[in-house]
Amino acid sequence: MNAQAQTLPKYLDERVPVEQRIDDALSRMTLDEKIAVIHAQSKFSSPGVKRLGFPDLWTDDGPHGVRPDVLWDEWEQAGQSNDSCVAFPALTCLAATWNPQMACLYGESLGEEALYRGKAMILGPGVNINRTPLGGRNFEYMGEDPWLASRMVVPYIQGLQSKGVAACVKHYALNNDEEYRHQVNVIVSDRALHEIYLPAFKAAVTEAGTWGLMGAYNLYQNQHNCHNDIMLNQILKGEWQYDGVVVSDWGGCHDTDEAVRNGLDLEFGTWTDGLTMGATNAYDGYYLAAAYKQAIREGRYTTKELDDKVRRVLRLFYRTTMNRQKPYGFLCSESHYDTALKIAQEGIVLLKNESLPLKGGSQRLLPLDLSKVKRILVVGENAIKMMTVGGGSSSLKVQKEILPLDGLISRASTLNAQLSIDYARGYVGDTVQSYNGVTVGRSIAENRSAEELLQEAVEKAKGADCVIVFGGLNKSNYQDCEGHDRKEYGLPYGQDRLIEALAKVNKNLVYVNISGNAVAMPWVDKVPAILQGWFIGSEAGEALASVLFGDVNPSGKLPFTWFRQLEDCGAHALGAFPGTWRDDYKIIDEEYKEGIYVGYRWTDKQKVRPLFAFGHGLSYTTFKLGKPTLNSPTSFTVSVTNTGNMAGSETIQLYISDKHASVDRPVKELKAFQKVFLQPGETRDVTLTIGREALSFYDEASHQWKVEPGKFEALIGTASDQIAGKCVFELK
Ligand code: BGC
Repeated sequence: MNAQAQTLPKYLDERVPVEQRIDDALSRMTLDEKIAVIHAQSKFSSPGVKRLGFPDLWTDDGPHGVRPDVLWDEWEQAGQSNDSCVAFPALTCLAATWNPQMACLYGESLGEEALYRGKAMILGPGVNINRTPLGGRNFEYMGEDPWLASRMVVPYIQGLQSKGVAACVKHYALNNDEEYRHQVNVIVSDRALHEIYLPAFKAAVTEAGTWGLMGAYNLYQNQHNCHNDIMLNQILKGEWQYDGVVVSDWGGCHDTDEAVRNGLDLEFGTWTDGLTMGATNAYDGYYLAAAYKQAIREGRYTTKELDDKVRRVLRLFYRTTMNRQKPYGFLCSESHYDTALKIAQEGIVLLKNESLPLKGGSQRLLPLDLSKVKRILVVGENAIKMMTVGGGSSSLKVQKEILPLDGLISRASTLNAQLSIDYARGYVGDTVQSYNGVTVGRSIAENRSAEELLQEAVEKAKGADCVIVFGGLNKSNYQDCEGHDRKEYGLPYGQDRLIEALAKVNKNLVYVNISGNAVAMPWVDKVPAILQGWFIGSEAGEALASVLFGDVNPSGKLPFTWFRQLEDCGAHALGAFPGTWRDDYKIIDEEYKEGIYVGYRWTDKQKVRPLFAFGHGLSYTTFKLGKPTLNSPTSFTVSVTNTGNMAGSETIQLYISDKHASVDRPVKELKAFQKVFLQPGETRDVTLTIGREALSFYDEASHQWKVEPGKFEALIGTASDQIAGKCVFELK
């Protein structure tokens, strides 16, 4: 042992097991230092322990790219020149890939960007369940199904943390209402809580080992989730044995005593105005700051709770800022753009692609047949509107964002075909191209009236071989945006009228929907081809063009049910959204009356046909599934053949149906899936395995998962409404 190693204090000695280093560091810290590390010192940082050599902890949103820096103590931009990032597709698109490898790549690439920017923790990913398509933040989450969200969140976290950057999975839990997110008290059955709303968080903790987790703003059982005894003490740290840090959502902490006792470890964003309000340091006013210190000094608490919190924060330091094994980070690399492009291409969902009658046969509209299509008309604001700015805390400052129109023009320029692309605005939505001080787009101001825009589009459409409308929602308030929920299911800005008018004059109409949520499509029968284009980040235009032109065969599958009308969604059918205000108008009680019947679980039960089912997504080729065989009650094999003439991927989905149970059970529930890539004519056997827990339900009486013997069915198909075969088996 050399002299230096001998004198190295234990907490700095990398040969010593981390828990012992934590003990040593803890024993050296003063009360002031301990209090300091459990709350913020700026909008996005908390202090380390400078005296001992622990650097400050910098965190940042998340989840789709690393947010640009704001000033130390204000939300205004810091104006850095090194914080332009790559925008990865929003998490709905990632979920739509149904490809866990893509989630891992996502996490790794984001981690590298975070490292370059000096961020130790990314505030994401988000796994709140899509309970209603009006949810303003659904675009940041992974859909309606707990199994799908679980399978996708685990590799995202593993990829991110493999770079030495902590994930902070959010918003734990039941954060399904944006409009009243600070006042909603959720009333939900234990069964729905454990079967629908918690599994993705549980997987993040117990399988991915997330180092951070963010408490949600809302209340559960009349207690805010950032210091909720049941959620944090009992479930998270008790049942799941979580050893990481619970971070408050920004301003989500409301009470010192609850924060001390109920498991909050790191307080951020409490509504003080930081240093600018005249106090020497307004961060001292945080619930876990001066008030807590005073209470300890007065003997109202021992340091038991404090030491537990500090221990967790120190563990986070060793995992991130103190980890010398971390790789180097880099920003805006080719490989990151490549990741963004691949995920976007895999996540785009071909919702509809009908055959059009043609002379001597029929042909599907997509991919565009360039031997016939020479004049393309692009219509719609979303073809020219950037979507990486706006939407709340996930807003970014990108180095580049390829807009859909530009992507199409650029792809067309590489073709020999004589192809002309014209553009008509069609409608005006929101012309603002900046958010929170970030302006990256060119102006999309428009002075013409709605009527003039519609007429122009219709006139131009008459002479086009094909019309592609880019519509949908955007990131403005009351669209897909944090802080508010959508006010209506229908498309905004008069788009329905525009689409109907275009369909009348040109039957070769493609509609590309840009959103993170489903929307009503009253004109669906009049539009032969529909793509779901999500918010797909920096490479949006290139990804969309590659699918429209057929360079890429679409393989995305919906991570949520696309209801025909809002009333087909359980929460709305039962009038259970947003809830009922109490007399004092301070709290709104929201009872999840639909219980476990969220998304397809509801439509299956009610026998309602959605417009597009959960798991639905078409391809430019066709696939045929063989008869599934049962290898054992936990393993099933099915052959899949690409019966078309283009290579492509299909996602085989396995749903379990419990035929007899002592409790009401969903018609079926997703429990396994696998995406396979096949050349034309190729056949492959796909084996799907499930665990015993796939057959279980949460028993409210015993507060445990329970499996009952009896008959089950494994339904295997390519969408929740495309079941190709089933295996019946009995559990003894
Ligand atoms: C959001 C979080 C975000 C935080 C910091 C909050 O308003 O709910 O998701 O991470 O702000 O920007």
